[in-house]
Amino acid sequence: MNTHRMDGGSIDILSELIAALLADPATTHGLARTLRATAKELELSRYHHASKTAFTCDGLVAPKKVQVGGGAHRIEGFFNIDAVPPADLLWDVREGIPLQDNSAEVLFSEHFLEHIDYPVSAKQYAREAHRILASDGRLITGVPDAAFVLGEYPAGPEQAEEMISRWYAKRDCRKDINTYLDLINYVFRDQDDDPTYNPHYWAYDFEKLSQLFTEVGFTTVEPWDFDPCMANPKRQWASIYVVATK
Ligand SMILES: C[S@@+](CC[C@H](N)C(=O)[O-])C[C@H]1O[C@@H](n2cnc3c(N)ncnc32)[C@H](O)[C@@H]1O
Repeated sequence: MNTHRMDGGSIDILSELIAALLADPATTHGLARTLRATAKELELSRYHHASKTAFTCDGLVAPKKVQVGGGAHRIEGFFNIDAVPPADLLWDVREGIPLQDNSAEVLFSEHFLEHIDYPVSAKQYAREAHRILASDGRLITGVPDAAFVLGEYPAGPEQAEEMISRWYAKRDCRKDINTYLDLINYVFRDQDDDPTYNPHYWAYDFEKLSQLFTEVGFTTVEPWDFDPCMANPKRQWASIYVVATK
């Protein structure tokens, strides 16, 4: 059997095959879902390897303030790392954080952690955050608060409607959220069949965030006082933010 390196040529060939299969009416729904997810991963891989080729730690002024997974939400004075544009560095954080040990003062993310798989990538992210932060450095993390969502259950569809309109207004899912349990499913395992969207892989509450971050060596994990200068005001409602200190 031929072996292929994971280079641009192989990725392009695979992308073309996937595009051809997706255009074929005989491709089944289940296969098409998997292919769309694979196409998305190929796109991330393309960005990641392009950055890896261009980027060395030595070439970068070590940023003191870093945001991961900020999407369109830029924070003044922060260096933004994201898997897709726009970002200062296009990087798949599941592969680590390409910054030097003990170099950053603060690492911020919101509505990012639930989009990477647990335990492998979430624990890798926690370990890498601990590695790159300086002594007393702060890891600030905001996620949808699973405890809040579960705490409202059982609830009528109108409560699901409120959360959907606050969190998923731009998405095409409202017609599919008919009961509050549909919403709980969304929070825990969003499986939207949209190639531009990252699924939710894991749900978090304060206890889980504390466990995840203390396991890798953070000394304290406390609730974070929401600061709209840093965090996205649209995210405050029904989210939980913690600050873990190295
Ligand atoms: C739901 S959006 C949140 C954007 C922004 N933080 C906000 O609250 O509006 C999740 C973000 O995480 C980024 N992301 C997901 N997986 C990632 C990965 N493996 N590496 C880097 N960024 C990732 C996505 O590209 C996206 O920008």
